Amino acid sequence: MIRNLTLSALAAFAVTTGGVMAAGAEDGHIENIAFSFDGPFGKYDQAQLQRGLQVYTEVCSACHGLQYVPLRDLTDLGYDDEQVRAYAAQFEVFDSELDDFRPATPTDHFPKSGLANAPDLSMMAKARAGFHGPYGLGINQFFKGIGGPEYITALLTSYTGEEVEQAGAVLYENTVFPGGLISMTPPLSDEIVEYADGHANDAHHLAEDVSAFLMWAAEPKMMARKQVGFVGVLFLGILAVLLYLTNKRIWAPVKNRKEV
Ligand code: HEC
Repeated sequence: MIRNLTLSALAAFAVTTGGVMAAGAEDGHIENIAFSFDGPFGKYDQAQLQRGLQVYTEVCSACHGLQYVPLRDLTDLGYDDEQVRAYAAQFEVFDSELDDFRPATPTDHFPKSGLANAPDLSMMAKARAGFHGPYGLGINQFFKGIGGPEYITALLTSYTGEEVEQAGAVLYENTVFPGGLISMTPPLSDEIVEYADGHANDAHHLAEDVSAFLMWAAEPKMMARKQVGFVGVLFLGILAVLLYLTNKRIWAPVKNRKEV
């Protein structure tokens, strides 16, 4: 009975996830990407984060802010204090004590979005969970490794080139964006950003790099979280073995008693 129930539950689960995945792939074309930070032992690729920061700075920051990300966290990307100070100084922040604008310092955050209808990107890589599977259970992410960074990469590279005018605003056709029409102009094109190390800079690579950077922005401590999780699993594993052995030992006299 129990076995039958389990089997049918498993079958139902397989059918629903299969269906949902297929639907997602059809209208969204969200492909899994082998990011360096995928999986339980994945790590951010510092060089990629630096490239992503460059794409964000040169392209996306014209419209999008990262107001929850402290500039000093850029030391995570391998920059020293001097470099972070120089980077911060290019942004202007309003200082209520001075009652005026001043160049940002590493203790400030990235600025807010400059364009009113462009959403802040600080949490975007974690916020876009709609395609994680039914009810946001994380099923697609679990089975296929598809998460927010994949969505952002797909979004940036799924413009069809068609434009429509609706109520006086120009909308751009995008096969990944829900509804198919987005008000963001296609931000990336091949070679729009030039990398100092000569790394590939076609639109797809640029999109992947900036998506990796946005994942870091949304979860800078991912590595620490994975490490704690790993230690936790190891600890519980050892505990399980000890409990099993203790249990055997406690019941040994009862089990070995001769039936009369
Ligand atoms: C010219 C201004 C502009 C630039 C440059 C720009 N964006 Fe946008 N972006 C927008 C606007 C406006 C929206 C809101 C679109 C909407 O809701 O229709 C948006 C929305 C988004 C979204 C949210 C999509 C969603 O699912 O709601 C993401 C992610 C995004 N942009 C990423 C980027 C990245 C990454 C870059 C740099 C490569 C970038 N944008 C450059 C204006 C811009």
